[in-house]
Amino acid sequence: MSEPMEVDGESSTKPANAMAALMAGAKGKAKADAANGNGVLTDKEMKELNERDGLPWVEKYRPNTLDDVVSHKDITSTIEKFIEAGRLPHLLLYGPPGTGKTSTVLALARRLYGPPFRKHILELNASDDRGIDVVRDQIKSFAMTKVLFSKGFKLVILDEADMMTQAAQSALRRVIETHTKNVRFCILCNYVNKITPAIQSRCTRFRFSPLPEKEVQRKVDQVIEQEGVNITADGKAALLKLSKGDMRRALNVLQACHAAYDTIDETAVYNCTGNPHPQDIERVVQSMMSDEFGTSFSLITALKLEKGLALQDLISGAYDFLQTVELPKQSRIYLLDHIGSCEHRLSVGGSEKMQLTALLGAFKVAVELSQKPIKA
Ligand SMILES: Nc1ncnc2c1ncn2[C@@H]1O[C@H](COP(=O)(O)OP(=O)(O)O)[C@@H](O)[C@H]1O
Ligand SMILES: [Mg+2]
Repeated sequence: MSEPMEVDGESSTKPANAMAALMAGAKGKAKADAANGNGVLTDKEMKELNERDGLPWVEKYRPNTLDDVVSHKDITSTIEKFIEAGRLPHLLLYGPPGTGKTSTVLALARRLYGPPFRKHILELNASDDRGIDVVRDQIKSFAMTKVLFSKGFKLVILDEADMMTQAAQSALRRVIETHTKNVRFCILCNYVNKITPAIQSRCTRFRFSPLPEKEVQRKVDQVIEQEGVNITADGKAALLKLSKGDMRRALNVLQACHAAYDTIDETAVYNCTGNPHPQDIERVVQSMMSDEFGTSFSLITALKLEKGLALQDLISGAYDFLQTVELPKQSRIYLLDHIGSCEHRLSVGGSEKMQLTALLGAFKVAVELSQKPIKA
């Protein structure tokens, strides 16, 4: 996350009209600063500038405190205990995207250092150059500069650390050791198995699991109310289903739909995300099962063109759909095997047309298999 996105919670408590006056005043100044190119905008000015330009909701509604982080109460309360005891270990937070890892460390930094927390943290993510020399130099100079504050250590946040090379990671191990006295490391990643065991063993590990649907729903409801979003019940159900426990995805899709549609219904959600509508999936699977090969092939090709669907999405849709229908077990096994292979071949660059014929072929064989009695 970059600096301009930062929202500081305090000003949101000001009455709305005071806020408006403040914004009107600051707008001109921020513009002038930006125009003459020399001024670094303060957090507040940045915030106002962003608000005018439409801050993404994921940033606007990013939790400010550890308490605001939903679902992972066991993790946040353990971290809180570490802080209270004044004994924060190095942290390794891992799990799928949009589950609150970055939010948790930022809330932790705010809890430790208060609003000017940015001075006490060094945040490096995948888009920064993270060859080990850069990391070593940056971390070293960061650790050595003193800021006037009471706590004895600063935070280095390595976001998306699983993108670091193995060589950089092994060198990092030494950096962690030499700087433990005045620096704590927070290492964030999606796949913990890509972090060398040497680093893992120096950190306290926390897994961020996908958020339960009802937690996502609670936050989504809150945003819907505050932003005055007009959404139908089936639209909300589709949104929650598509987000699969990823809060970032849920909020981003909601914001995109809100910008594009007056009323958000199920179709709007599927259109906005480019995901095939369940009805289309059903049509595709029905056709593959019962139509003749050529008919089915042209129907699916036409549908893909018309709706702009990717075969990959149709395959995963068909996979989900197959879980809901009854099939003889020999056909199901055959189909799952072939759907898996098709998906794999597409992911390594196979042609859509050929994979579609392969998929159709697999369905035809599966139908034939279902009509044969099972041999003992
Ligand atoms: N546990 C959570 N509680 C509240 N909001 C969350 C949570 N997880 C994600 N979010 C929302 O999703 C956005 C992205 O979360 P982030 O912490 O950056 O995810 P990660 O770093 O795990 O990919 C946040 O700005 C916040 O609005
Ligand atoms: Mg993150």
